[in-house]
Amino acid sequence: MSTRPPQNLGDVDSVISERANRHWWDLDADAYHRSHGEFLGEATAGGDFVWCPEGLREADVGLLGDIVGRTILEVGCGSAPCSRWLAAQGAHPVGLDISREMLAHGISAMVADASRVPLIQAGAEHLPFADESFDLACSAFGAVPFVADSERVMSEVARVLKPGGRWVFAVNHPMRWMFPDDPGPAGLTVSIPYFSRTPYVEFDEDGVATYVEHHRTIGDRVREIRSAGLILDDIVEPEWPDGFEREWGQWSPLRGSYFPGTAIFCSTKPG
Ligand SMILES: C[S@@+](CC[C@H](N)C(=O)[O-])C[C@H]1O[C@@H](n2cnc3c(N)ncnc32)[C@H](O)[C@@H]1O
Repeated sequence: MSTRPPQNLGDVDSVISERANRHWWDLDADAYHRSHGEFLGEATAGGDFVWCPEGLREADVGLLGDIVGRTILEVGCGSAPCSRWLAAQGAHPVGLDISREMLAHGISAMVADASRVPLIQAGAEHLPFADESFDLACSAFGAVPFVADSERVMSEVARVLKPGGRWVFAVNHPMRWMFPDDPGPAGLTVSIPYFSRTPYVEFDEDGVATYVEHHRTIGDRVREIRSAGLILDDIVEPEWPDGFEREWGQWSPLRGSYFPGTAIFCSTKPG
């Protein structure tokens, strides 16, 4: 792996980002679930809905509101533990993800617990659904941090939501961009300008992008939500829970004691 840029990083567009991330998540699906599957509820009968590495659960916070009987789109569902949990509560979820191997973990989980959720392999910037198909949409770190055009994701979700529908998505807190991905003391020193929208890109030895993450400031995210015609209701910044010791990459009790790791944007399509 190299981070040597073979091209102008400003040219890392939707096509390059989607291709790199599809490949990356396909290759990483097994390792990701070995590390995080238990925490996320991959093998839990009836799934689980964990919003973020801080362990916030939909069962406790109810950010989606009433879910029983509702049609729900999960964007970047991975192995779909959240969708399986929603189905177990009486909702009608559909999971969408770009990675076939991440979805394959979801299919294995459904075979094991006899739950059934439709899973679609597609990119979040072009949702393959008719206008006003869903009552709710959600995403727990799926797709939004990885796409070049997150404004387009917002407008696509707004398009497929019914009037009055909610769109709730969790992403890395924008202020995290400034710090190195280190759970220890080195992760407390600012190293990248908050206002730099240059994406983080890894390349292989041939200069092909193999992993891409895109940064948006808090203000960028608010403007993207509003320009999609949605109303921003809240930005939830989960605090690190007392006594919670589980690290997840850059998420750690140390960093969590100083600044937020996750931002959950809650919005509504006007009725
Ligand atoms: C950090 S994982 C989160 C998965 C799941 N929500 C969870 O909590 O385990 C990010 C997911 O986003 C998916 N993803 C990345 N880029 C995407 C895109 N452009 N469209 C749809 N899904 C994408 C990846 O394949 C991966 O499954």
